Amino acid sequence: MRSYVATPAERVAGEVTVPGDKSISHRAVMFGALAEGRTHVTGFLEGEDCLSTMRAVAHLGVNVQRPGPGEVIVEGVGLRGLKAPGVTLDMGNAGTAMRLFMGLLSAQPFDSVLIGDASLMRRPMERVAKPLRSMGARVETQDGKPPVRIAGGAQLHGIRYEMPVASAQVKSAVLLAGLYAEGETTVVEPAVTRDHTERMLQSFGCQLRARDGVVSLSAPAALQGTHIQVPGDISSAAFFLVAACIGAREPFTVRGVGVNPTRTGILEMLALMGADLRLINHRTWGMEPVADIEVRPSRLKGTRIPERLVPLAIDEFPALFVAAACAEGETVVTGAEELRVKESDRIAAMARGFEVLGIPHEVLPDGMRITGGNWFDGGTIDSRGDHRIAMAFAVASLRATAPIQILDVANVATSFPGFDRLANEVGLHIEQRG
Ligand code: S3P
Repeated sequence: MRSYVATPAERVAGEVTVPGDKSISHRAVMFGALAEGRTHVTGFLEGEDCLSTMRAVAHLGVNVQRPGPGEVIVEGVGLRGLKAPGVTLDMGNAGTAMRLFMGLLSAQPFDSVLIGDASLMRRPMERVAKPLRSMGARVETQDGKPPVRIAGGAQLHGIRYEMPVASAQVKSAVLLAGLYAEGETTVVEPAVTRDHTERMLQSFGCQLRARDGVVSLSAPAALQGTHIQVPGDISSAAFFLVAACIGAREPFTVRGVGVNPTRTGILEMLALMGADLRLINHRTWGMEPVADIEVRPSRLKGTRIPERLVPLAIDEFPALFVAAACAEGETVVTGAEELRVKESDRIAAMARGFEVLGIPHEVLPDGMRITGGNWFDGGTIDSRGDHRIAMAFAVASLRATAPIQILDVANVATSFPGFDRLANEVGLHIEQRG
């Protein structure tokens, strides 16, 4: 089993560019497959999750090439051009791939079966299956979890769906099914969630209306292939932003980060804790805003995280919890029960790590209360195969008194291949074993 040993590091310095955005990379390949003509993707995240999407698309009869690093060419087959896969589609660790494909495959003339790794096989899928069924899809889960079996040939009709959970994956699955539905499909969000699907569908020429948390579309005649330049993933940048907040003595820069306002909750949360973050070099790549983020040395203080920020930073809590452990005073996170159904139960995984490393905390059903200001002890923690838990505790080594060994880190490659190398370039001391 692969592990990290993160030896205490004194500081981080310099600048980094993080790999491409995972959410946008999945969508670029999927939507490109459904388009007419060629889609050229640059800055594609070559992580295991997005490679699972690429492989699935290839099994569906789409020609996908990787001519160079971060570059993908998808020869779209059109909305009605996908072929029966002939194999069970394995989504690996990728919840986004499974849930978005559920929407897409519900509308196809052929049957499909979706599976994943041990973590994904434990994750809830009824949240997607339910609205799809009410559109006429024939989708079955096993006790609410994968395998997901989809019977082909269903005639879908549009619905108005008020989502009980704030989930971009559920929203996207329903909208993808809506590309094939008779009549209008509307999704109503209980809170703002990432809107990459809405933005990118427009890049592919699909008209939709999105206002005040209500998104509607009608089946387009076609999508048109396009160029998608994928910004750096703010969820990967988050580990370096926190590292810089706790370990930089001079300004530290993360370049080319996607700063879509539905993703920047981490910036607001760190700013509330007293971090000095500046967005510079604003530009726009397609429909997505991009900037460099500069972090200036500052002292973090504990705070109460406003619940409205939770869906805007849902993947950043492992990193934020480490920042909270380093901040003076108490930080309270509530309204984040969704963390319990991510790649691992992230509240439980972080709490167990804090217990081992001597960080005072109290577990809440929907979050955590963390008393910051102490240094991390050394010790061995289990990432539970969760990439973001592994990276968060690696960053903690900037405030540790002894080495932190992190078990089961192979899945870092799902979202951030080369994390340890990049982290070491700016001052961390992470040794990979196994
Ligand atoms: C994602 C949405 C989020 C996020 C996941 C990626 C997406 O999940 O946690 O990593 O690409 O739509 P939920 O929509 O289930 O909150």
